[in-house]
Amino acid sequence: MALTDTFNRRINYLRLSVTDRCNMRCLYCMPAEGVQDVGHDAVLSYEELQLIAESAVGLGIEKIRITGGEPTVRAGIVDFLAKLAAIPGLRHLALTTNGLLLEQMASDLYRAGVQRLNVSLDSLDPQAFREITRGGDLAKVLAGLDAAVAAGFPPPKINIVIMRGINDAEILDFAELTRSRGNSVRFIEYMPAVKDDGWQRLCFPGEEVLQRIREQYPLEAVDKGTFAGPSQDYRLPGATGSIGIITAVSGHFCSDCNRIRVTSRGQAKGCLFSDETTDLNPFLRPPDPERLTKVLQEIVQAKPEGHAIRRGEYTHSNFSMAQIGG
Ligand code: GTP
Ligand code: 5AD
Ligand code: SF4
Repeated sequence: MALTDTFNRRINYLRLSVTDRCNMRCLYCMPAEGVQDVGHDAVLSYEELQLIAESAVGLGIEKIRITGGEPTVRAGIVDFLAKLAAIPGLRHLALTTNGLLLEQMASDLYRAGVQRLNVSLDSLDPQAFREITRGGDLAKVLAGLDAAVAAGFPPPKINIVIMRGINDAEILDFAELTRSRGNSVRFIEYMPAVKDDGWQRLCFPGEEVLQRIREQYPLEAVDKGTFAGPSQDYRLPGATGSIGIITAVSGHFCSDCNRIRVTSRGQAKGCLFSDETTDLNPFLRPPDPERLTKVLQEIVQAKPEGHAIRRGEYTHSNFSMAQIGG
């Protein structure tokens, strides 16, 4: 059954966050002290998350991306993923991770039925990586990328939040990975989730990324697939991986948005930058699958046409990406 919203967009993708905890503290994502620990009760149990996933798939969702915080830090994640993968009608199960624990977990994730991994990697320089992530170890993430391929995954997509003066000098090095390692890379514009001062100074438009690459190499456009996200993709001659830009600020991709989100505390959102959230807890405690399905359908129907962040036009409250899952 196809699920469409009132703007005739096909909604086939759920981003489901399983925790807002993380083993890094990326400077664009959370404050140095981390996000407030909400304790066990506030976070949905795996049974509750499973019920949401089953209801969403019953409605027409065909792809689920598991996000965090950092999903691999939650105990029991592998067994949960295996149960999700077994939901009839779910065609794609993917996970976004910072890669720190991938070296030890890649095989288990693959065996559980995860099909694709996206890995955040904002610098190929160990010191800059440590500064951006406030302590992360680049060598571990690189070992995790290798372990993923050794376990059977296609080369993970690499997410780079591109920031002027911080990692923009590495654009060509990242582009080169699409040839040397076969990974696809996506340059993401810094989004003002937490409206910290000076974010505009850091924001580096996707078009400028492409321009930098075109100064050195020709780029050809690549077609989007049915489950494609917000990335606009290109390719270097002879490269296996693609180069994408996610222009969350400079350009809007709301007209082909295909997704809804649910946070680890059971708040459903039709749009990343809308303050409209629907609390799913009343339909989970105790479980009421029928009403849950109805409410998820209402969230799709109420999905706004788009947002207007642009330069300083905020309409949303402050939030940490770790609480929503990006
Ligand atoms: P796939 O297309 O399935 O690979 O997923 P994705 O690129 O959407 O997922 P990923 O978790 O790797 O996110 C990449 C970046 O895109 C993150 O910075 C997300 O916050 C951002 N992103 C994903 N969906 C949206 C969206 O609907 N709106 C905006 N503004 N940003 C989004
Ligand atoms: N702007 C852009 N991307 C962000 N992410 C986290 N916070 C931000 C932000 N403020 C990205 C991470 C991860 C993905 C899920 O979201 O780098 O790859
Ligand atoms: Fe953790 Fe990802 Fe946020 Fe970095 S961007 S602090 S890895 S949740």
